[in-house]
Amino acid sequence: MTGGTQRMAIKITPLSDHTGAEVRGVDLAGAVDDATRAALNAAFSEHSVLAIRNQTLTAPQLLEAIQLFGPVFRQHNTRFALPECPLIHYLSNQDQYDNGKRYIPGAGYHTDHSNAEEPPKATLLLAIELPDSGGDTQYVNMQRAYEDLPEDTKTRIADLQAVHVYQSKHSERKLTGLSPEAKALVPDSVRHPLVRTHPENGRKSLYLNPIRIESIDGMAEADTLQLLDELLAHATQEKYQYRHKWQARDLVIWDNRCLLHKANGDYDHSQTRYLYRAMLQGSRPV
Ligand code: SIN
Repeated sequence: MTGGTQRMAIKITPLSDHTGAEVRGVDLAGAVDDATRAALNAAFSEHSVLAIRNQTLTAPQLLEAIQLFGPVFRQHNTRFALPECPLIHYLSNQDQYDNGKRYIPGAGYHTDHSNAEEPPKATLLLAIELPDSGGDTQYVNMQRAYEDLPEDTKTRIADLQAVHVYQSKHSERKLTGLSPEAKALVPDSVRHPLVRTHPENGRKSLYLNPIRIESIDGMAEADTLQLLDELLAHATQEKYQYRHKWQARDLVIWDNRCLLHKANGDYDHSQTRYLYRAMLQGSRPV
């Protein structure tokens, strides 16, 4: 141990044969040594989801700790920001739409904030309060899904550019509205390739987002929707899924560049599901 930095006996165990690993032996409330930081970043690039167990962190401690994976991304909808630590948001099943209907944040497969020029590379959730059962987060591995596509489909979609907006008119899930201040920070639309290459591991993946994709350049609307439905049906097959069953004090980080994820509202809603949420800055998809 040097200068208050902990040398940790980190243990990383895969959670499926393609996505997810459990991390034990790390306490992110303290400083982390360089070897542990490197091991965590390498594991994140390899497994795409890390479930770091037993993390007891205040919001400011979480904000400090997550920067071992990179700089923080400012989330668009400031309505969910914690007043005492605004770069950390919360996610709660006790929230409602303006019409009083319960809001389950994150229902339906998506990747986060793809309407940004440089979308967040990662999202992190820290479990503060969980229902007794249910409320898993489901992921699909978009690298595996891309690799298994027929060659003629790969050729057909290789150069396609999709237009992403805050709320696609085609989205089944409706998002809560942005405040005027947040609206001023969010671009009207951005273009991203439908197939992107991971900047760290070099693998290609589908980059879809049913909540945000409004159109594909040069394609009629009916053809766009048919193509997106086809690709989504392919990518969300069970063989590409990893389903995270939450444990108390799990800190989960996932890679938005090569996964879709969704929340499940399949639990007793008289019980609270409350997590802290943060994101990390990514680069322009290429
Ligand atoms: C999200 O989409 O960020 C929420 C995922 C979850 O609540 O499980």
